[in-house]
Amino acid sequence: KPVLFSGMQPSSDSLQLGNYIGALSQWTQMQEDFDAFFCVVNLHAITVPQDPAELIARTRRTAAQYIAAGIDPEKSTLFVQSQVAAHAELAWVLNTITGFGEASRMTQFKDKSQKQGADAASVGLFTYPVLMAADILLYQAERVPVGEDQRQHVELTRDLATRFNSRFGDTFVVPEAQIPKGTAKIYDLQEPTAKMSKSAESEAGLIKVLDPANVTKKKIMRAVTDADGEVRFDREAKPGVANLLTIYSVLSGRTIESIEQEYSGRGYGDLKKGLVEVVEESLAPVRTRTEELLADPAELDRLLARAAERAEAVANRTLDLVYERIGLIR
Ligand code: TYM
Repeated sequence: KPVLFSGMQPSSDSLQLGNYIGALSQWTQMQEDFDAFFCVVNLHAITVPQDPAELIARTRRTAAQYIAAGIDPEKSTLFVQSQVAAHAELAWVLNTITGFGEASRMTQFKDKSQKQGADAASVGLFTYPVLMAADILLYQAERVPVGEDQRQHVELTRDLATRFNSRFGDTFVVPEAQIPKGTAKIYDLQEPTAKMSKSAESEAGLIKVLDPANVTKKKIMRAVTDADGEVRFDREAKPGVANLLTIYSVLSGRTIESIEQEYSGRGYGDLKKGLVEVVEESLAPVRTRTEELLADPAELDRLLARAAERAEAVANRTLDLVYERIGLIR
């Protein structure tokens, strides 16, 4: 089977709906057809300040949410990045073939460092995409399912793989991003032109997978719409309503048209009430299963340790080859 790699940061107590729709739901479908590696990327998370106790808790919670959403730890390799040393080791090597200007062009770095201020932003944040390239290349992954915001990072990964191959001889598979059409970007409910993000300044527009039902309901009922009152998909003119329709459609498996028809001539209030039900139906089982898994942290840790061993065996094979190619004593 071809190899797939993807990951998420444990940067919050709960994944948000964008992670769930843009990434996780794709992963669960793809794990049947791929030799899949799903990583909790805690080394990426520390590129911005984290509280140590929270980081550990969030790492386990993120892994638990992967499983709760349908990642099968028997089929797929679900592991934690810091348990496989090769990620940091390959990242260093790749740093040495990445151009300073090339890294400076990464828009996510520009956004995040602008928010933090140039002096507060760490060098780790700057080389974040290089670590991501190391993640992917260690497993010789062909496919990388991500949301739209990660497209540029996967492009960089391709460039680095190609460059390394041509400089040192064929070593890496050049991976391809898989970005879903239409649902690759879920927007903030309060600011429907900005992507929904765990690190948003306000949580009012953020649907969290693990939030209790009444909190999610309140957020959906207060979602920003527009004044014309018509339930119609128009991303430009009606971004709020378009976002609600997208979420409704992807979680219910129905087409946008059929939802527009159902709610035509009715108000946004009705659409939102319908959406509350659809979201609850998808997320309630994930919530319940996550809590069950977290109730037995020792079992979860055992599972992660086993997966890390499997991952490490594959990663070290690639790293051995890389060291040999560049002339590093191993
Ligand atoms: P992260 O943790 O920010 O997000 C995890 C995944 O969720 C997707 N996503 C979204 N999709 C649709 N709408 C949204 N509003 C939304 N917000 C987030 C992201 O595109 C991503 O697929 N750098 C990565 C983590 C990473 C990685 C990797 C991914 C590290 N190494 C190797 C793939 C392969 C990140 O920060 O994702």
